[in-house]
Order: sequence, then structure tokens, then C-alpha cells
Amino acid sequence: MTIRAVVTGVGHYLPDRVVENAEFEKTLETTDDWIRSRSGIERRHFAAEGQTTSDLATRAARAALADAGITADSVDALIVATSTADLTFPSAATMVQAELGMTTGFAFDVQAVCAGFIYALANANALIVSGQAKRILVIGAETFSRIMDWTDRGTCVLFGDGAGALVLEAVEGAGTKADRGILSTDLHSDGRFRDILYVDGGVSKQNTGFLRMQGKEVFRHAVEKLASTATTAMEKAGITSEEIDWVVPHQANIRIISGTAKKLGLPMERVVVTVQDHGNTSAASIPLALSVGKARGQIKSGDLVVTEAIGGGLAWGSVVLRW
Ligand SMILES: CC(C)(COP(=O)(O)OP(=O)(O)OC[C@H]1O[C@@H](n2cnc3c(N)ncnc32)[C@H](O)[C@@H]1OP(=O)(O)O)[C@@H](O)C(=O)NCCC(=O)NCCS
Repeated sequence: MTIRAVVTGVGHYLPDRVVENAEFEKTLETTDDWIRSRSGIERRHFAAEGQTTSDLATRAARAALADAGITADSVDALIVATSTADLTFPSAATMVQAELGMTTGFAFDVQAVCAGFIYALANANALIVSGQAKRILVIGAETFSRIMDWTDRGTCVLFGDGAGALVLEAVEGAGTKADRGILSTDLHSDGRFRDILYVDGGVSKQNTGFLRMQGKEVFRHAVEKLASTATTAMEKAGITSEEIDWVVPHQANIRIISGTAKKLGLPMERVVVTVQDHGNTSAASIPLALSVGKARGQIKSGDLVVTEAIGGGLAWGSVVLRW
């Protein structure tokens, strides 16, 4: 008997405020055309004043619980992937736990920047497969608008706010690649590259700081590392790229997304793309794309999905699952 972590619910939340590229033309030396052509981004959502990451996460969690047809008190673990938690502590996860009225189980945050949701999924899978949890809410939620330097045109046009969530449940499988659920995970980090994407502040530095990025350097690592981890995850699952129905990549830049798909030998018709509407929402981007992909009718039950992400650290990884 093999226990699999199967997705039984998905949902997302995007803040009301939509900011089109053209709005940046008023304050920065930039154009809609530059942002579109270099990144694929057309618009992004920004949280309202006072709206926090746990607010966004709670709304996405409620949508995922409703989709699964379950209540929060039946969930025994809650993980939030985020680099922009409301407070230094407690975790955003415990705040969401309280908002949902979940008084049992345990909740914690995972911080692996844009790879955070992949890391959270790998953690959730390990908890389920080892029998430590049966039903887990896995949420990716961010308010990157709070760490933008609005005078830095090389970064502030690229990021957005949002949240997405999955319900994962322990289900008995046959132990083959035909099983629904997570089939493999693959994680990496290499702190030698910590200076190419980071926030120049933090608790022990005693300031919040702003996101800093050497865009070209990040780009240089991204396609190669993403294709490599996705290939490894597929090998671990015993599948080839021809069997993949959908690639759900981290939504940072359309050129990284298409470059990686090309390296994997997968046509863009099999890639879920939301970067044009969301920008880079860091740890929220994959669950947002999964939720939107399902709502669009792209991802269906039984489909084979490969997700991949890279971000600050550098940290990167991939998860293969059958939806
Ligand atoms: C940031 C990124 C879009 C820049 O695209 P690029 O093609 O590499 O552009 P460059 O960095 O070469 O910049 C070219 C020029 O555009 C300028 N530029 C930067 N941002 C600009 C903007 N918003 N509008 C107009 N010009 C801009 C630069 O200053 C540079 O000008 P210069 O040649 O006079 O110095 C790209 O490097 C990228 O997407 N990198 C990966 C970033 C990412 O995805 N990070 C998150 C990973 S989780």
C-alpha cells in the first residue's frame, strides 16, 4: 500500500486593485511595451492599505476548503509559503489557522522565496506519506508590494500580490505512476548565489528593506536550473515529458517560462501561463496558476502536472503530481 498526497481542493484570492503597466509610465522611465516585451507582464494586483498576507491567505484557504467540500476543523496541518508574513512572529500560518477557526492540528510557515510553494508541497507530502497528517492546507501568499523600491524600474514593475491554496489528502494508491497525487519532489538550494536576489533588510538588520535583484544573473540561472530540476522530478516519478499534460511554472517572466518549456521539449500549448495578469507573486504564483488553470478548464482530474520554481537563495525545485 502506498499513501499518496492527493489534491482535493484548490482556490485563490487576488486583491481588488489592478495596476496596468501604463500606470508605471507616470512615475518611472518605463513603457508598457518594455515591461510586456521583457517580462510578459501586463498587469498585477496590489493589496489595499492594511491588507496583509494572512488576509490574502485566509481568503484563498476558504476557497480551497469550499472546493474540497470540507471545513477547517477537519484539517490537521496548515502550511503557508511566504517571505512577506504579517509579523516577524507568530507565523502567518497560525494567523490563518485562527481566522479559519481551526483549533486543532499544527501550522507553520515555509520560507524559500519564489520556490516556497514547491518546498511547502514537499513538506506536506512528507507529512502525509509518513502518516503524520491526513489532510493539509498548503497555501502560498505574498504581499511583495510591501518590499518594492518604487524608484527601481528594474524590479518594481515585475511583482504583484496574491494567494493560492490547495487541500491535500492522504489517499491509498497502487504505488504506480497511474496514482493520483504527488508522485515525486525535487529540491535544491545554493547560498553562494544569495546576493543576486535578496531583500536588503530584516529583523536582525533592524529594518524591513527592499527587494534587490541582478535580473540578468537570475535569468541566466533560471532556465537551466528549472529544466534540470523538472527533468529530475520526472525521472524520479518514472515519466517522460511526452506524458506530461501541463507544466505549471513559477510565473516570473514569460521568457523564462517559454525557455524552460523548450528545454523540456514541451509546447507552450501545454503550459499554464498567468504571468500577464498576476506578475511575479513569488510563493503564491504556482497555487494561483493551478487554481486559474483548473477554472479555465485546462487542468482536469487525472492530468499529469509538473510544477517548477526558482527564487532567492538561490532555491529551486519541482513537484510532479497527477491531479
Ligand atoms: C529584469 C529583466 C526583465 C530585465 O530584462 P533584460 O532583458 O535582462 O534587461 P537588462 O537588464 O539588460 O536591461 C536592459 C536595459 O533596460 C533598462 N531597464 C530596466 N528596467 C526597465 C524598465 N522597467 N523599463 C525600461 N527600461 C528598463 C535597464 O536599465 C537597462 O538599461 P541600460 O542598458 O541603459 O543599462 C530580466 O533580466 C529578467 O526577467 N530577469 C529575471 C528576473 C526574475 O524573473 N526574477 C525573479 C525570479 S524568482
